[in-house]
Amino acid sequence: MVIGLIGAAGSDSLDRVSRFAHPAGDRHAEVLPEERPPHAPADLNGLDPHIWPRTAGRDGGAVTIGGADVRDLVAEHGTPLYVVDEEDFRSRCRDYREAYADGDVHYAGKAFLCRETARWVMQEGLGLDVCSGGELAVALSVGFPPERITMHGNNKSLAELERAVEAGVGHIVADSFEEIARLGFLADKHGRRPRVMIRVTVGVEAHTHEFIATAHDDQKFGFSLGSGAAAEAARRVLALPQLELVGLHSHIGSQITDTAGFEVAARRLATLLVQIKEEHGVVLPELDLGGGYGIPYVEGDTAPDVKVIADGLREIVTRVAESAGLPVPRLTVEPGRSIAGRAGVTLYEVGTIKDVEGLRTYVSVDGGMSDNIRTALYGAEYTARLASRESDAEPMLSRLVGKHCESGDMVVRDLWLPADLATGDLVAVAGTGAYCRSLANNYNYLPKPAVVAVKDGESRVIVRRETEEDLLRGQL
Ligand code: LLP
Repeated sequence: MVIGLIGAAGSDSLDRVSRFAHPAGDRHAEVLPEERPPHAPADLNGLDPHIWPRTAGRDGGAVTIGGADVRDLVAEHGTPLYVVDEEDFRSRCRDYREAYADGDVHYAGKAFLCRETARWVMQEGLGLDVCSGGELAVALSVGFPPERITMHGNNKSLAELERAVEAGVGHIVADSFEEIARLGFLADKHGRRPRVMIRVTVGVEAHTHEFIATAHDDQKFGFSLGSGAAAEAARRVLALPQLELVGLHSHIGSQITDTAGFEVAARRLATLLVQIKEEHGVVLPELDLGGGYGIPYVEGDTAPDVKVIADGLREIVTRVAESAGLPVPRLTVEPGRSIAGRAGVTLYEVGTIKDVEGLRTYVSVDGGMSDNIRTALYGAEYTARLASRESDAEPMLSRLVGKHCESGDMVVRDLWLPADLATGDLVAVAGTGAYCRSLANNYNYLPKPAVVAVKDGESRVIVRRETEEDLLRGQL
């Protein structure tokens, strides 16, 4: 492994100094990483339709989204700016609705929930998953039909459960024994009969293109199937007549690109359905296989077609149910990223440009890990382009970094930008519609950017930019 070394040959202090960051861990500073920059794209101005919003294009050189020119968007709303292509978001809701016409689709609000996206989801006829009292409050504030809401969470408070029961949400996914007891109490108190699902940990861990079947269930979510906890949860719910047990739930992970992991999950869930039928004479009518459907972030990533996955899941559930001698349950899925992810683009203004001789150019933008922590947190990869104009300059190996006081503050670790990039240019990062605004924070007291929806050449603020006043609010 040859890496860049600095210092005079033979110098003790400098001859093994890496010019690249090395991995942390017990061999910290002894393991020198290989450099693996991606290939420069064939077209530095290109907008791959699999990665960029459905309405994205270029007009007179500048990127347009929803018919709006990014330069106009920035002139009106400032930077950094989250731009959401309303048509992309809504059309993906419709794709799901059609692909699961005989089942239910619940948008996972954690990907990106605000009052306006809740309205879009409601208008497009989908249900909604929430996993906190706050997310539930957003949904209820726009009149989202409670019967189409599912309440999730591994540690729902009594107050959150009470709000869900009082509101009459369609499903509550039970995640602990404590919660089942609390639900029984709350159902009595409010004279309601909540519809309950049991979150089952099936021992399948999905990770990008792979799944790893695990013998143990070393995580905080759900009731373990292997240990018998899930069967005990069913026993306890069924022992409380004020609760209606309607089905089983499983969520195996994120950025999944095929149905193999779901097949294992469905087969394992079926064993529990059979056990419940034999033990209690109860046939549960619903199966929720969760979300996790991947999207392409960079060239070469593959994303499953919604319909292909839907047909695959339907076929799996039918086959598994029939071979277990059970009626085919109604299928629910909970996509988050695959609805919101590609609709979102983040616009930044380029500030400092620092060429680190012989290595790469650091391009600093006016946001960073406060508006997109995914790169720092998960090593996520993104595609970014010069957006305010086209350029035919040579590609320049770059790192798009933020303005926070941390070296890990990267938006895109390795990318190629045109060598004539200049301060004041706008850069657009694709695929930021899911889990960027949701995970946004105020590190270094940066205000959270505005979110604007674009459609038919018009833009409107759907979440306003935070102000200095917002940052100071609540402080004594
Ligand atoms: N349903 C349940 C129960 C979930 O826990 C999740 C995501 C989803 C549905 C939606 O998954 P999706 O289709 O969006 O992959 N912050 C991470 C992702 C965390 C996902 C947590 N649960 C990220 O930025 O990649």
